Amino acid sequence: MKIVVTGGAGFIGSHLIRRLANEYPDYQVINLDKLTYAGNLANLKDVDQLPNYQFVRLDIVNLKEISHFFEIEQPDAVIHLAAESHVDRSIEDPLAFINTNLVGTANLLLSAKNTWKSKMEGKLFFHISTDEVFGSLELGKNTFFTENTSYDPKSPYSASKAGSDHLVRAFHHTYGLPIVISNCSNNYGPYQFPEKLIPLFINNILHQKSLPVYGAGINVRDWLYVEDHASAIDTIFHKGNRGTTYAIGGNNEWKNIDLIRLLCQLMDDKLGREKGSSEELISFVTDRAGHDLRYAIDSGKIMTELNWKPSLDFEEGLSKTIDWYLDNKEWLEEVTSGAYMEYYNKYYKDRG
Ligand code: NAD
Ligand code: DAU
Repeated sequence: MKIVVTGGAGFIGSHLIRRLANEYPDYQVINLDKLTYAGNLANLKDVDQLPNYQFVRLDIVNLKEISHFFEIEQPDAVIHLAAESHVDRSIEDPLAFINTNLVGTANLLLSAKNTWKSKMEGKLFFHISTDEVFGSLELGKNTFFTENTSYDPKSPYSASKAGSDHLVRAFHHTYGLPIVISNCSNNYGPYQFPEKLIPLFINNILHQKSLPVYGAGINVRDWLYVEDHASAIDTIFHKGNRGTTYAIGGNNEWKNIDLIRLLCQLMDDKLGREKGSSEELISFVTDRAGHDLRYAIDSGKIMTELNWKPSLDFEEGLSKTIDWYLDNKEWLEEVTSGAYMEYYNKYYKDRG
């Protein structure tokens, strides 16, 4: 089986590729990625010599190149993660999100449809989406997003992801394209770009920089360790019902300020700093525009139907994550200085 993973040089994509390339030596895994600021081939240093792994640098917004790639490669499946993924950036530059997340997804759908038109059976377009498409839940209520929750996106990022989910369903309904969609909650773990809450704050604590908490820090997110998301994707890819959706979460809601305090305590401990010193870095700043209050997922369907469950509890996952960043300061430095962008030139461009 030949699988194209789009966005494989990003945070979740790199964990998924590591898992697929190692656990399924018979599969050929192609990482299709543009290498935006969020794509880092150093995330796959331990994978890039495997014989069943290949990297191709392409922009999903370029229909001509994407359809040519599909014609040549004739993939059996696409797992689509490539996206602009950071809410704050979508507030600054919504068009980048509309281009990649909507137009890019449409280009992949068209290319898959044209390539598979004579035989759709056994093929799969797996679209990786987010719980943010469902909007925001009330604080303090026992309510959850499920596969049946109505779409109500609130940010340019979530609106572009919602639109892409609709396109994927429309291609299934109209052309019979075999699809599956998953909507996951907040991921955390190694190799996450230090613009998202957890790696940004780990990096700032390490360098004793201020910790900018948006608003009063009362917003709630449901956190899932990234390898557990990769295992959910693997499970759905192999066993999930085609034409349907799966909601994935950690059953692990944290108010931002509580999570940040826990992070500060763990970091003080691990860095041998005085208890309470990292918390002094907390600074309450202007809230994110349109900031969604609460996300929480009911993962009942994937748990009962496909027997998936998260493997790590949060304190264990967070501690493991901090240890990874402390053990990989070079990765963090290369990312924050921009030096990581040279990785492609050094290792790939010369090889053609
Ligand atoms: P990321 O920002 O770390 O990585 C995105 C990857 O896509 C990068 O490698 C980037 O180079 C690539 N990319 C961006 N634009 C491209 C283009 N035009 N053509 C080709 N490649 C392009 O993102 P992530 O956090 O790993 O998220 C991956 C997917 O999972 C996204 O679709 C996101 O919406 C979804 N998701 C993320 C989370 C989360 O918490 N991070 C949760 C649920 C769903
Ligand atoms: O729910 C899934 C989504 O989770 C994914 O679809 C997105 O790709 C991913 O980025 C994430 O979105 P969030 O906006 O929830 O993640 P972020 O890490 O940016 O923020 C988490 C919470 O922390 C949120 O309530 C905003 C707050 N925050 C974030 C940053 C970066 C701060 O208070 N300060 C910060 O500096």
